[in-house]
Amino acid sequence: MSDMRQLVGKRVVMTGGAANIGRASALLMARHGATVVIGDLDTEGALETVSLIEKEGGKALAQKVDVTQESEVAAFVAAAAGFMGGIDVGFFNAGLQRSGRVEEFSVDQWDALFTVNPRHCFLMAKYAVPHLRAAGGGSIVLMSSVAAVKGGPGMTAYSASKGAITGFGRALAAELAPERIRVNVLCPGWVDTPFNQPAIDFMGGTDAQNSVVSQIVPLGRQAVPEEIAESVVFLASDMSSYMTSQIILVDGGVF
Ligand SMILES: NC(=O)c1ccc[n+]([C@@H]2O[C@H](COP(=O)([O-])OP(=O)(O)OC[C@H]3O[C@@H](n4cnc5c(N)ncnc54)[C@H](O)[C@@H]3O)[C@@H](O)[C@H]2O)c1
Repeated sequence: MSDMRQLVGKRVVMTGGAANIGRASALLMARHGATVVIGDLDTEGALETVSLIEKEGGKALAQKVDVTQESEVAAFVAAAAGFMGGIDVGFFNAGLQRSGRVEEFSVDQWDALFTVNPRHCFLMAKYAVPHLRAAGGGSIVLMSSVAAVKGGPGMTAYSASKGAITGFGRALAAELAPERIRVNVLCPGWVDTPFNQPAIDFMGGTDAQNSVVSQIVPLGRQAVPEEIAESVVFLASDMSSYMTSQIILVDGGVF
């Protein structure tokens, strides 16, 4: 039987791999044969992800990086390329969420969301693209959100920051296509992780959230991180070889 793994020999650099969607994606990419280098502020969580991968016989490395710091991003990407001998795939997944009504939202909170969410995608691309080019091409997966294309109360800053990622991704895709580097933007809907606590608090608690999910999600439930990881593998791998500049909604059909 032929090898069904989709990322054999691929070298992945990713951010935000300490838990939840990032961890599930790192694990699944490693199961598909990739080597994965994870950058996260949460070193303990990222090391735990690496040890889970190693237990399954995979190869991975974790490095502490604050993606808001250009010098740290540059050093992280250089270390990742050094460890793996190059980079074929970038998965820029680190993210922050804050919720609040627009008139109560502070400029500092707004700036914090933009500094992590879209600005870190720019910084990671800036330093990773030369390595993908040297590899003869590759794939970049940008983590956005359904919030980029559909709005909800209390989400103005988060939606704007994730919308910036979709705009960045589409332009980057056009810029890099001649070099056989594909760029796609992944937009999950509600995924059951602690990341959504600010939005849940804004809504008034878990019961209120469950009621919103049952009203706006036709599939009637939140996703689990593993369901998002499947799309990450698809976009990272040659399974999506004719796709670039796409905004992929994995949201249970949100109205
Ligand atoms: N959970 C959801 O419902 C949902 C829906 C759509 C999109 N997303 C996106 O998926 C991604 C992962 O979300 P998650 O639910 O797994 O939550 P998560 O909190 O587990 O993941 C975010 C990761 O980013 C890291 N991070 C934050 N700031 C950082 C910084 N300055 N430097 C380095 N690392 C930093 C965190 O330590 C964490 O590991 C995020 O970009 C999020 O916006 C999540």
